[in-house]
Amino acid sequence: MRPPVITLDGPAGSGKSTTAREVARRLGYRHLDSGALYRALTFALLSAKIPKDEWVNLPREALDRFPILLRPNGPRFDVLLGERVLEAELRTPEVTALVSPLSALPAVRDWLLEAQREAGKEGGLVADGRDMGTVVFPDAEVKIFLTADLRERAARRFLERESRQPSAGELRLEAEKIEARDKRDSSRAHAPLRRASGAIEVDTSFLTFEDQVEVIIGHVKTLTKR
Ligand code: CDP
Repeated sequence: MRPPVITLDGPAGSGKSTTAREVARRLGYRHLDSGALYRALTFALLSAKIPKDEWVNLPREALDRFPILLRPNGPRFDVLLGERVLEAELRTPEVTALVSPLSALPAVRDWLLEAQREAGKEGGLVADGRDMGTVVFPDAEVKIFLTADLRERAARRFLERESRQPSAGELRLEAEKIEARDKRDSSRAHAPLRRASGAIEVDTSFLTFEDQVEVIIGHVKTLTKR
């Protein structure tokens, strides 16, 4: 029997990627960070100096010029642009600021769909993003919707990036940026961020990282009898 697909969707800073990575490690599955694909295309368009106001009209053939692919690498997938493995390039403030509007474009979402489905075709996958449970893997055996209080998410994001606690002003600014991105991701017409039907909501505001991993593994065990 094919091992299950587990989806983790949720807003920015809810801890999806780190949690998904650890859940995958504990289960011996592979982790897919779908946001990295959207970030990779954002990075590619910026690097190719395609003016931002042209992004909205890019036809499929124009996207096909960018050889973005997922390559299995142990417990994860590397995201490649041609031969280049993308890593830190995906997390620059410029990419973070532009990834959400790009992700709202139906042509972009359709273009990236196949690579994501391919990654899950043999199961044994923990996939995190915004539409994993609703669009990409609607038949996933386990669907989780991760949430956390906005300020908590902003604080985590800041700490992760700057390796220090934010001041009150910095926290406010970070929360504003996150909130704007969430609004955009939730209100777009195509594959908006929302809880998939049948998804279990896990609020991580008051959970330690270890606890949230445990809670999710518990749901996986119950739902898949593993
Ligand atoms: O790590 P964080 O939650 O901040 O972002 P991410 O998962 O790297 O995703 C970056 C952006 O890509 C999101 O804000 C969405 O606009 C978009 N995205 C999406 O539309 N669908 C996905 N499945 C994953 C990401």
